[in-house]
Amino acid sequence: MQRITAIDELRRARAELTGSVAFVPTMGFLHDGHLALMREGLRRCDHLVVSVFVNPTQFGEGEDLDDYPRDLDGDAEKCRHLGCDLFFTPQRQAVYPDGDVTRVVVDELGDYLCGPSRPVHFPGVTNVVARLFNLVAPDVAVFGEKDYQQLAIIRRMVKDLHFPIEICGVPTVREADGLAMSSRNRYLNNDEREQAICLSRALVAAYRAYQQDHSRPVADLVRAATNEIDSRPLAAIDYVECVHPDRLTPLADAEPIGDDGAVMAMAVTIGRARLIDNLRLDRALPDGPLRRI
Ligand code: PAJ
Repeated sequence: MQRITAIDELRRARAELTGSVAFVPTMGFLHDGHLALMREGLRRCDHLVVSVFVNPTQFGEGEDLDDYPRDLDGDAEKCRHLGCDLFFTPQRQAVYPDGDVTRVVVDELGDYLCGPSRPVHFPGVTNVVARLFNLVAPDVAVFGEKDYQQLAIIRRMVKDLHFPIEICGVPTVREADGLAMSSRNRYLNNDEREQAICLSRALVAAYRAYQQDHSRPVADLVRAATNEIDSRPLAAIDYVECVHPDRLTPLADAEPIGDDGAVMAMAVTIGRARLIDNLRLDRALPDGPLRRI
């Protein structure tokens, strides 16, 4: 595995890779969720490129850019062990040599869910991912379904801008008690960590309510979820919503979920950590921890 920071070096090394190339962009502090993406990349392609870049443009004022956990050597070791070819860790100056005057913004999909409370977030994500796609020129890029809205926005960007890249989504990897893995889980103290199981419990509560009776209005499903979260004093809801799985538009509270199905998505702040999670309510519950809740 080559560790690369300079762009000309990346381009040279990329050009020497023969066969197909998968790319997994990350902000580092790698956990098993990231590793699942990398494995999927290697399953689909001959080579794997992983980037670690804590992208400043996707963090808003007062967010955790400066505290974001970092462990570059540990990350490199995990990538090497997994069979990664190129481990790319650019500096801000390399990614944005003259600022970010040229912007890629996906309208509409960014207006819902996390959009209103994090207005600079998704434009920052598309800005960096578009740049990384141009630098790495992968055949396949792998993203996690944990960041459901991010995945939908990237798919749309790739389609609209004709990037010759196949976008692949990987199911959320969870801790044994159901908490979705996230680099930000590191911020939780013991009490907070214990209460953080309310996100996955809330999703499963809504899931079971829907499976019991498909004609229940969306508001009932949201209530089933919020009850779980409200029972934990350290958890504060940013949003809990049922949205259309592709358009991400909120479903009408008084109506049941329609034929297109629904994703329940939520953001909950616990201590310093803003945690997100989501679940398709109209699909089989994924194997693993959620089935044991
Ligand atoms: P980061 O939060 O490091 O996540 C990198 C990738 O790992 C994303 O595609 C994310 O959805 C996926 N991921 C995170 N936790 C996961 C889990 N528990 N199970 C499965 N996949 C998981 O997302 C970003 O970085 C950034 O926004 C980025 C795309 C790199 C742009 O800066």
